[in-house]
This record gives sequence, structure tokens and C-alpha cells, in this order.
Amino acid sequence: MSEPSFDAYRNSYDDVVQDSIAFSGLKHDFFLTAKVDLLREVFAESFGAENKPSLLDVGCGVGKMHSLLKPLVGSLSGTDLSTQSLERARAEHPWAEYRDGVDSKLPFADASFDVATAVCVVHHVPPPAWTEFVREMRRVVRPGGRVILIEHNPWNPLTRLSVARCPFDDDAVLLDSRRARRLMLDAGLTPEPARHFLVFPTGHRLGRKVEAKISGLPVGAQYLVVGRV
Ligand SMILES: C[S@@+](CC[C@H](N)C(=O)[O-])C[C@H]1O[C@@H](n2cnc3c(N)ncnc32)[C@H](O)[C@@H]1O
Repeated sequence: MSEPSFDAYRNSYDDVVQDSIAFSGLKHDFFLTAKVDLLREVFAESFGAENKPSLLDVGCGVGKMHSLLKPLVGSLSGTDLSTQSLERARAEHPWAEYRDGVDSKLPFADASFDVATAVCVVHHVPPPAWTEFVREMRRVVRPGGRVILIEHNPWNPLTRLSVARCPFDDDAVLLDSRRARRLMLDAGLTPEPARHFLVFPTGHRLGRKVEAKISGLPVGAQYLVVGRV
């Protein structure tokens, strides 16, 4: 289990994240929206714009993205090792389903979901357990579905600064997109090219277009990798 436990951040999670990125002048909501916008694109590409996939969010914490994700999905389930974070998630999103995680096995049956995400979670998992963590995500996704990892990009100096300033990132072992794609291959997934994002501190459409063009370069603050099951 990751240390320190995220139980301690149940109520302060938002403030702690905001403090660690305050130097950028940006709000946490900006980062959440950028991630959800990219997930919207990936869901549309993967399942068709008119279809709403069933989603499992692994390591969902207090469920900060879940209100934004709600219109994009047919159903949303979440799991986490932090039982207290899940208590808050349940209270704030009664329409979603949350199950306590207890060990490395996900508390869901094989092939239960169209897509499983892990957003800024793998860097809190001990590296020897990384492949098994991704393999478990693959197990609970149906054939033809998608496993999606979103992670901090260690090649971005501002990302490193925000990780260094964040108390719950004390245990973080950052992985770059090449390593994330390798993990997917080892877990039996077919990884798509990584998409780096959050290059510009604006959600302006032109900035997003430029970001999409250069998303193969490890420039943005974070990246997303899709693995096909
Ligand atoms: C930085 S938080 C990210 C929370 C959420 N995904 C988000 O983006 O706001 C990392 C979360 O991963 C959870 N976590 C770490 N290792 C895990 C594991 N092996 N299985 C499930 N959750 C885990 C932690 O408890 C914590 O809630």
C-alpha cells in the first residue's frame, strides 16, 4: 500500500493540490478540465461519439473528476485503497458506485467495463507492482475495451517542481510515457502512441490544436496513454 495513506488528505486534498501548483498561477480545475477534455476525445475515438462507455476509475481518490465525467459515461465506478477518500466520493457523487480496494486485486469481475482509467496513480504504486497493477486493469476491461493511464511527465521541469512541492508525492516514482507504454505491452495490452498535454497554461482552442500536433513530444506537464484490450 502506498505511504502516506491518502486517508489523511480526505478533506484537504483540493487545498494540497492547489498549493503545490500555486506557482503556475493556475487553478486545479484547469488541469481537471484538460484531462476530461482529452478523455472525451479518446472515448469518442474508441467507442463512437454517440456511445457512453462504462468506466472504472482505479485510484479515484475523492473523485475530483467524477462530476465532469458524468455526462460522458454510461456508468461510473471507482475504487481506491483510501477508504476515507471513498467515503467522501460516495457522499459527493451518490449516483456513482465505489468499492473499497484492499490489495492488489481489483474488487470487480473480469471484463466488467468498457474502459478503466488510472489518473496520477501509478507513480504512487511501488515499481515492482506496476505491471501487475496494469494487468489487473486489463482483466476487468472487456475485449475491445481500453485501459487508460494519465501520468505526470517527468521530462517537464514544472511537473517536477509541483511534485516536489506536494506532500503526498513524497513516495512518488515518476514514469515517462515510454515506460508506461512498456508496462502496457508487458500487461498484454496494445498501446497507442502517448499524447502529452498541458503544454500551454490556457484552454484556448488554438493552444489545444497546437498541443495535439506536438503531443508525441514529451513536452506537456502530463501525458495519456491508451492501451487496447
Ligand atoms: C494523487 S491521488 C489521485 C486521485 C485521483 N485519481 C485524481 O486524479 O484526483 C492517487 C490515488 O491513488 C490511490 N492509490 C495508490 N495506490 C493504489 C492502488 N494500488 N490501488 C488503488 N488506488 C491506489 C491513492 O490512495 C490515491 O487516492
